Amino acid sequence: MTHRSWMRSEGFTTEVFDGRPVIGIATTWSELAPCNVHLHRVAESVKRGVWQAGGFPLEFPAMALGETLLRPTAMLYRNLLAMEAEELFRANPLDGVVLLSGCDKTTPGLLMAAASVDLPAVMVTGGPKLNGKYQGTDVGSGTAVWRWEEDLLAGRMTQEECFFAEGCMSRSDGHCMTMGTASTMASVAEALGMQLPYSAAWPAVDARRYETAQRAGQVIVDLVNSDLSPSKIMTRQAFENAIRVNAAIGGSTNAVIHLLAIAGRLGVPLSLDDFDALAADVPTLVNLQPSGQYLMEDFCYAGGLPAVMRELGGLLHGDAITVTGRTVAENVADAPCWNRDVIHAMDAPFQPPGTGTAVLRGNLAPDGAVLKQSAASPHLLKHRGRALVFDSPEAYHAVVADPDLDADENTVLVIRYCGPKGYPGMPEVSNVPLPKKLLNRGVRDMVRICDGRMSGTAYGTVVLHVTPEAAAGGPLALVRTGDWITIDVPSRALTLEVPDEELARRRAEWTAPPPAAARGWTRLYTDHVLQADTGADLDFLIGASGHEVPRDSH
Ligand code: FES
Repeated sequence: MTHRSWMRSEGFTTEVFDGRPVIGIATTWSELAPCNVHLHRVAESVKRGVWQAGGFPLEFPAMALGETLLRPTAMLYRNLLAMEAEELFRANPLDGVVLLSGCDKTTPGLLMAAASVDLPAVMVTGGPKLNGKYQGTDVGSGTAVWRWEEDLLAGRMTQEECFFAEGCMSRSDGHCMTMGTASTMASVAEALGMQLPYSAAWPAVDARRYETAQRAGQVIVDLVNSDLSPSKIMTRQAFENAIRVNAAIGGSTNAVIHLLAIAGRLGVPLSLDDFDALAADVPTLVNLQPSGQYLMEDFCYAGGLPAVMRELGGLLHGDAITVTGRTVAENVADAPCWNRDVIHAMDAPFQPPGTGTAVLRGNLAPDGAVLKQSAASPHLLKHRGRALVFDSPEAYHAVVADPDLDADENTVLVIRYCGPKGYPGMPEVSNVPLPKKLLNRGVRDMVRICDGRMSGTAYGTVVLHVTPEAAAGGPLALVRTGDWITIDVPSRALTLEVPDEELARRRAEWTAPPPAAARGWTRLYTDHVLQADTGADLDFLIGASGHEVPRDSH
């Protein structure tokens, strides 16, 4: 009586308490997360579908992570969202959940939660913005910003032009419309089988986004009735599909960290090396920024992810089950492609196999580092140069315009203390702009090495996720300006050319930085966060607890 009576204060009729499935709709809506600001409306469509299918929908908020506003980085809070959502899913009397996400970290955060609770779940991402339009050309979220930042620094663009351009870039609801992290993770969720076919690509303002949301409302009731839970969908096969799809779409390096973290919640064995090995024979098929030319709206009109997955054919596990209750192969069997310049065919790929994420190792990154080959400059994939070292991106930014900066195009910029513990939260700062004096000379890329991450919208020859990070005492902390560094991507090697004895001497002199915070979430995070090579989850959040509450006194 207590449960029903209090719920009736919301105006529900008694029929909704007849035992029908109770479907939670976890929304990461917030005006502080502009990419997710339309999710309230998406939730209304989901509710229609739930009612239609005989369920009882209840919408509730989960922490919204707005990539552009949160400091020091939204990534600091991905695990907090995952923890909050996990507890909400378990503690409330829900039979299934619909996960409404959009901006970068909201998608992996909710998937991690769903994985740990293992209630039937279906994801509905909010969809990308319409293409940006500036001076007659398409401009992509984020990707254009990096270019304009350099143009502003080099005097090729005025501040007034920048103000005008920023409005042209963000002209509708939705998340970044490049193949950045949000579009990547939406595609990855679809490839994992956790969201409906075509969901990743419908623009946020497209009526079919709302149609698909309504369909997801129907689907979640079916999933509850058939007890098809995330652990039955997100299997090792599904992760292998997601990794291969990520390579084919030229997806973000952030997918590496997020997929490792989601797999960790399910107990699915997945390692950093799987990303390199599984992507080795996958060509890049999708010609989208930042690696290519087009944007998500074009991707949608070209056929979206099902067209890519159909093209990948035998490279995917076609028998992996998805939220539709059907297999991957069944879902994409008839998927058409309408534009081969946007979605290339396997026999005429956009980039050849082996141009996806490379995993580098060596004495500078004993536990690995990653590099997005499709976004790098081919002439820098084998490179030897002297290190120019900065202990923070801020320290580098302070001198980036210095005409006397001791750097040339062969210099290897090392930016460190940007890892999970160091910054904290492992921000997307690794693709620092080039020194102004080199930009003025027309240099457009140079090797950068960092223990932080790079935005999925960014490009450049940037070695990321160096593990262990400097703040955890990784060798990156021992590099000094003037040291020679060799990067050899074909051999997957990253070498600091300093003798072991000298490194040992430097290590003896090194002291760990103090914790970033004395209390609160940041303290909990830095005390427990794992390194990037295993997904940067918290050590005590690995694994699943299921959907039974530990002690139910009611
Ligand atoms: Fe939200 Fe890019 S800032 S998706």
